[in-house]
Amino acid sequence: MKIFVYNVRPDEVSFIKEWQTNHPDVEVATTQDFFTVDTIDKAAGYTGISALQTIPYPRELFKKMAAMHITFLALRNVGVDNLDLQAASDYGIKISNVPAYSPYAIAEFSVTQVLNLLRRTKYIDRQQLAGDFHWSPDFMGHELRKQTVGVIGTGRIGRHAMAIYQAFGASLMAYDPTIEAGDHDGVTYVATPEEIFKVADVITLHAPAVKSNFHLINATTLKMMKPTAIIVNTARGALIDLDALQKALANHEIAGAALDAFENETAAMQQFDTTEKLTDPQLIALGKLPNVLLSPHMAFHTDVAVNNMVNGSLNSLLEFGRQNQSEFQVG
Ligand code: COI
Repeated sequence: MKIFVYNVRPDEVSFIKEWQTNHPDVEVATTQDFFTVDTIDKAAGYTGISALQTIPYPRELFKKMAAMHITFLALRNVGVDNLDLQAASDYGIKISNVPAYSPYAIAEFSVTQVLNLLRRTKYIDRQQLAGDFHWSPDFMGHELRKQTVGVIGTGRIGRHAMAIYQAFGASLMAYDPTIEAGDHDGVTYVATPEEIFKVADVITLHAPAVKSNFHLINATTLKMMKPTAIIVNTARGALIDLDALQKALANHEIAGAALDAFENETAAMQQFDTTEKLTDPQLIALGKLPNVLLSPHMAFHTDVAVNNMVNGSLNSLLEFGRQNQSEFQVG
């Protein structure tokens, strides 16, 4: 089998090399390029493609894959909202993801950001960077064990986040459209996200982006929240109407937010060596606020996760090659 790996970052190289050493019969070639209609020609003659990107995989890309007789695409991540899955199916392209490369990585980062907001670490950093090093009323924070945490989406990541919050002694509420309202393992599941919005101190998003939750956090739902509430989103940008969030922060309708995922993420955001700067005026303005934490979709980024992403994707391509199907097929 011949595998072509797109979007390869320096931190993935050793894991790819190790996999290649363990699979001497497979030919693996790599590029740092994104997987697009302009770069697909590099994969000519290969049977499977591995990729990891937040920019779209459009219909035209699958059409070209089919024309080049490349039928397998194994993502190194979990989310599939940026793929035209209908087009992939129309052109007979089989796709897999890596569903559990490390729910711990993402859950731990989202809890980290909640603690940063609760303990006001950005205020402390800002003051120290300005050369001031003394107590301030801005530093008085809140204890996590005293908070009611509302978890939206209780798949692998949401469930691990709940376990961490439980260990801290926080009260938990959860909403997941696939789970009935009621008490499950010490967590109160509610029938609607609005029930969480009205009472939660911490609202943490762990749902995939689907049509039914587009802009779940919007002007109306933000108005339901406590002025002391904080929101953390390490899931998908489409869950939040950012204009509405910005207004709610400006009007003190909520107390803070930590955002790791955004609508229309740029390709440069996932590149180590890019010289491209943040130019979106809205993100620049939000990033200047002491009660807003922005990060470039990196909640996943741990050594364990990267290893599992590489191995999961390449193993799926091997399965596709041998059996024409993969355990982690999503389309
Ligand atoms: C995913 O796995 O889908 C993520 O959100 C992280 C990834 C884009 C690196």
